[in-house]
Amino acid sequence: MEKKKILTGDRPTGKLHLGHYVGSIENRVKLQAEYDCTFIIADLHMLTTKNSTEAIKNSADNAVDMVLDSISAGIDPENVKFYLQSGIPEINEMYTLFQSLITVSRLERVPSLKDMARDANIEMPFALLGYPVLQAADILCIKSHLVPVGKDNVAHVEISREIAKRFNSLYGELFPIPEPLQGKESALIGLYGKQKMSKSANNAIFLSDSPEEVGRKVMKMTTDPNRIRADIPGKVEGNPVFIYHDLFNSDKKEVEELKERYRKGTVGDVEVKEKLSVAINNFLTPFRERREKYQKTGMVEDIILRGTEEVRKEVQQTLYDMKKLMGFTTVVRKLKRKAEKFNEK
Ligand code: TRP
Repeated sequence: MEKKKILTGDRPTGKLHLGHYVGSIENRVKLQAEYDCTFIIADLHMLTTKNSTEAIKNSADNAVDMVLDSISAGIDPENVKFYLQSGIPEINEMYTLFQSLITVSRLERVPSLKDMARDANIEMPFALLGYPVLQAADILCIKSHLVPVGKDNVAHVEISREIAKRFNSLYGELFPIPEPLQGKESALIGLYGKQKMSKSANNAIFLSDSPEEVGRKVMKMTTDPNRIRADIPGKVEGNPVFIYHDLFNSDKKEVEELKERYRKGTVGDVEVKEKLSVAINNFLTPFRERREKYQKTGMVEDIILRGTEEVRKEVQQTLYDMKKLMGFTTVVRKLKRKAEKFNEK
């Protein structure tokens, strides 16, 4: 039986950190064995909130960083495809054709769009209102079945489902109805607690950080703020250092012992952090080995270009099928026939 198709991806924001790993990459690494996986680099989506020439110029480098990080983390470029959205102009054409299948008031009810406008400090651009419709084109252009996304993107996949259903009923069966696969509820906490890990909050460990950088960052982490000395009992729950130990330290016995001593007040922050540094660096060792292999000039660029070319062919076929069902190809044929007759005279 043919494998089911998965499509997911991100806007090209640059280097990936441990929060991305825990939130989505880890899951993608698992899914690639069982499904036919395609990953989008959604650079056109970036334009919906950030459209400076600077941002557009950076997106190529960001795309390469992102794909290299994903591959380093274990996504196998021999087995999956990466495509650059702007490299497939047919996606934009589909986006336009989909625009008649959904109402403005429906889009105005998608909560994440208002949040994005507010976060970017802008008034809702027309393009941002259309964000989920463009996303529907990303998903439907390869007739994807499953879409792994974060919580706030589930509503976007719902729009894709509505558009696919509307298309199928109006013009004829073409699209499978895509299902969202919702990932983790909560994001990884940043190095200093409170906020989630993000590049802009300056509280991230990047997958590409050197062992020394990891060590330095871990040493600056926030622990239990009420524990002012090593010999007083500390709190493990909600403590970023132990949240990371749980996630990245493969020596579970060591973690349990550290927690016990921490609760009793018989271990200092420094020892807990030193062990965490070692654990995170061990965790990142295979990432670094793969990075070494793929970092050669042009290799990642090539993976993106090859994937884009391959996916584009598939998208061209889908677009052709769409237009045929909609009746556009007949219109073109009629016009050509008329033109031929005219030229014969
Ligand atoms: N909307 C996603 C984000 O939050 C990126 C994205 C664009 C996407 N197109 C997609 C995700 C298609 C899944 C499927 O960054």
